[in-house]
Parts: sequence; C-alpha cells; structure tokens
Amino acid sequence: MSSEEGVRATNDDAAQCKRYAVDKGYWQDPYIKLFTSRGQQNHAPEISIGYYARVKGLRMILEKFLTVTDGKCQIVSIGAGFDTLFWNLKDAGINVTSFIEVDFSAVTSRKIHSIRRSQVLLQKITNEDEEIRFSTTDLHGKDYHLVAANLKNLKDFNKKLGECGIDKTLPTIFIAECVLVYIEKDCTDALLKWTVDNFSTVFFVNYEQVNMGDKFGEVMMENLRSRECMLHTEYCASIDTQIQRMSSQGFEGADAMEMRHVLYRLPQNDVMRIQRIEFLDEQELLEQLMSHYCYCWAYKDPNKIGLGDIGL
Ligand SMILES: C[S@@+](CC[C@H](N)C(=O)[O-])C[C@H]1O[C@@H](n2cnc3c(N)ncnc32)[C@H](O)[C@@H]1O
Repeated sequence: MSSEEGVRATNDDAAQCKRYAVDKGYWQDPYIKLFTSRGQQNHAPEISIGYYARVKGLRMILEKFLTVTDGKCQIVSIGAGFDTLFWNLKDAGINVTSFIEVDFSAVTSRKIHSIRRSQVLLQKITNEDEEIRFSTTDLHGKDYHLVAANLKNLKDFNKKLGECGIDKTLPTIFIAECVLVYIEKDCTDALLKWTVDNFSTVFFVNYEQVNMGDKFGEVMMENLRSRECMLHTEYCASIDTQIQRMSSQGFEGADAMEMRHVLYRLPQNDVMRIQRIEFLDEQELLEQLMSHYCYCWAYKDPNKIGLGDIGL
C-alpha cells in the first residue's frame, strides 16, 4: 500500500465508524449508509462516543458560524471523505451560499459514484433550472461542489475552488476533520496561511490529535504507521501548540479544547442518553481517548461580525 492509499483508507475507517455508531443510535444520519457498508467489526463504545462528540461538537461550532453570518457564507470541507454534513444541513432547513468538499480524486470519484446512484442524495443537490455538472472526479451542483485536489498543491487547490465559483470576500468556514495531521508541517503551514491571506473573513476549525507525547500517543502513531499512514504531529503536543500554530499563520485569534471537555459542552440529556446505549467497561479508557483529540478553531474577522465569539 502506498502512503497516499494509507491516508485515503482513513476515510473508509471514519465512514464505517460513523455508520456503526449511527446504526447503534448514537446520533441520526440517514445518509451515511448510502456511502459505506457497516463492515464486519464490532467497535468499542469509546470509539462511538468519540465520534458522537466529534460530530456534535463540529455542528455546535458550525451553527454558531451560520447564525453570525445568517447563512450568507461558504463552507469548505477539506479532506471531506464521505462526510454527510451537506445533506444533514439540508434536512435541518439550513442553506448556505456554497458548500464545497475537497479530497483526493480517488475519494471524490467514489463519492460521486455513490451520489449518482442515489436519488435521495441527488435530490438535495439539483434544482429544476440547473443541471448538475459531472466529471469522474468533480461534481458541481447549484450550491454543492465536490472537487478533487491534493491539499499540498495550493495552486491546484485554488484553481479547483475557482471552478466552484468561490467568493473570497464572503465569510468562509474551513473544516478539517482528521486531515491536517496526515500532511507535512510545511504544507499545512502554507495552507493555513493561504486561507488567512486570501479570504477577507475566515474561520478555520480543525479536529485532530493532541497530547501525543505520551505512551498512548506513541501507540496511536505506531498503529497508523503499520498501515502505511504517517502522522505529522509537530503541532499535536498540546492544546497550546495547536493554538500557537493558528496564531503563527496569521489568524487574529484562536482557541482549542480537548474532546473530554467538549463532551461536557454538549446538551447533557443527550450525552446521558448515549452513555446508556452500551455498557462502558472502563471510564478511564474513554477519558484517555478523549484527551488525545481536540477541536481547535481560529478566525480573521476585520469587520467584527462576531467570529471571535464562536467556540465551544
Ligand atoms: C480521516 S479521513 C476524514 C474524512 C472526513 N473529514 C471525516 O471526518 O469523516 C481523512 C481524509 O483526508 C483526505 N486527505 C488527506 N490528505 C489529503 C490531501 N493531501 N489532499 C486531499 N485530501 C487529503 C483523505 O483522503 C481522507 O478522505
């Protein structure tokens, strides 16, 4: 397996874990099953709770961004994989000016294949007056775009965003869930700086590993390495290094939170509900897992529309 294949395979893992948790009732997502099978394996409840906090935490941040911008904004999901956020937002009656997903061509072509064969998915992308434009790797609908680009190549990435009709003067949120950690430091530095330099008003939310300097972190790295997947953890030492990374690339403000704390920021009646779904053998393992992932967010808001107030 090449290292790119190893990285791409993390998308299949994420999609299967989400599908498994959704089937168990952790949260609702009628679309994930249209992109992935459930798989053979049983997953530990800690994993499903981790995904629950990841999905709900992101939604919480995103909804605050949507309120501040009144939906007149763009969402750019980088390394989007088989994520279903676009369809779930539509179900909630949430429309934005433009929703753009970017991934390697081998991933986007599989996603396009799933979309093309599902009326349920297609319905949310089309409208009566406009045709969807397809190629094997790129799809352009009215307000949804799925394009292939390697995030390490900013020229290509910029060109693909241009083909989606991106407006760099419109408030834009970039979402990176478990993506930057697979890309070399110099390239992620350049990518973050590029978003700050090119967009007038921008919010960036990043989900990835943190506190990786201990034994647990070492084991996590080793597991992925054995699957040809290198983690680039220079910024994953602590919450502080995560925040500093954002500030040093020019964001005006940044903050971050370990997932074990995020769990307490979510509606507690629902957290109690999901904790009853499966028996947790060891609370300690959950704590450990959740202290090795975080959300980090950063913004540039020259017109003070309120991006600085967004957080968990
Ligand atoms: C762990 S998956 C996460 C998928 C999705 N964000 C989610 O949370 O379900 C990481 C994704 O990032 C993509 N990715 C990693 N490096 C990339 C790069 N250099 N260019 C484009 N996509 C990349 C992978 O192909 C994969 O789909």
